[in-house]
Amino acid sequence: MIEAKGLSKCYGKQRVVDALSLCVPAGICWGLLGPNGAGKTTFLRMLTGNTSLTAGRLRVLGYDVPREALKLRRRIGVVPQQDNLDVDFSVVENLRTYASYFGISRIELQPRISELLKFAALESRADSPITALSGGMQRRLSLARALVNEPKLLVLDEPTTGLDPQARQLIWQQLRALRARGLGLVLTTHYMEEATRLCDQVTIMDHGRILDSDSPKKLIARHIEAQVVEVYGTGLDSWHGAKGEALATRFERAGDTCFYYADDERPLLDALRDYPELSYLHRPANLEDVFLRLTGRELRDD
Ligand SMILES: Nc1ncnc2c1ncn2[C@@H]1O[C@H](COP(=O)(O)OP(=O)(O)OP(=O)(O)O)[C@@H](O)[C@H]1O
Ligand SMILES: [Mg+2]
Repeated sequence: MIEAKGLSKCYGKQRVVDALSLCVPAGICWGLLGPNGAGKTTFLRMLTGNTSLTAGRLRVLGYDVPREALKLRRRIGVVPQQDNLDVDFSVVENLRTYASYFGISRIELQPRISELLKFAALESRADSPITALSGGMQRRLSLARALVNEPKLLVLDEPTTGLDPQARQLIWQQLRALRARGLGLVLTTHYMEEATRLCDQVTIMDHGRILDSDSPKKLIARHIEAQVVEVYGTGLDSWHGAKGEALATRFERAGDTCFYYADDERPLLDALRDYPELSYLHRPANLEDVFLRLTGRELRDD
């Protein structure tokens, strides 16, 4: 689906994508994760032929990008990070206008639009102006619009950011259904649960470089102990000095919470019984732990 070799993008002196090489097999759901400013959107824009490459080689669906970007764009659907629906048009007019770029005949178009309105759960809103739609509805319409040309590959930049849990679950179901129909999916997200549930393979990047790639399960097994105990509350320091530090394989302090990592959590939980004033949460390790371990806990402002 994607083959990149030594791919770089510079804005002035800043190297936003830095000699990136990767290979993503066809038909999978691939997630690109990274902190704010890591270079995810820039990479997706290179992938879809929307920005030039500073260096390197890129093939998407077998097309050489940017040389064959026009051909590629007929075969892909794109949901950008910011919705760019046409606010002068209604829901159905947005779908029709977009379809006209692909030269889809009127006979073909009508049933396809009905199907897409159903898919986006927007049948009752077909004639609404865009400004009358909620954020979640606009996102669903952007997704439906990206499918107008029946693409082989769908590229989604943060498809569910800002959506409520109901809308997010609906989009997850739809993406899973598309994936089951053989469509390849590329998505970025800041929701680690989303990546875990949807992606066959994820790549974690930072400062334009790949830190690691694999299935969510394998990444967790490779980077993190199996169990996590999060401890917070009055007396954290004395518990940590007396028990926590010694009983965990590894720990990380973040504000007023201490995260203890271990393959066997029982000694930690047993010891916590003697500290009733502390609160704790025991859970299996997840992709967020991997993300934080690889990219650090500091806030990004660059
Ligand atoms: N058109 C541009 N001109 C100059 N700098 C840019 C441009 N687009 C992006 N950048 C810079 O490139 C870096 C990567 O931006 P990018 O949008 O790819 O990050 P991102 O990983 O998508 O982040 P986020 O999670 O916040 O969406 C940032 O430092 C950003 O300021
Ligand atoms: Mg982005």
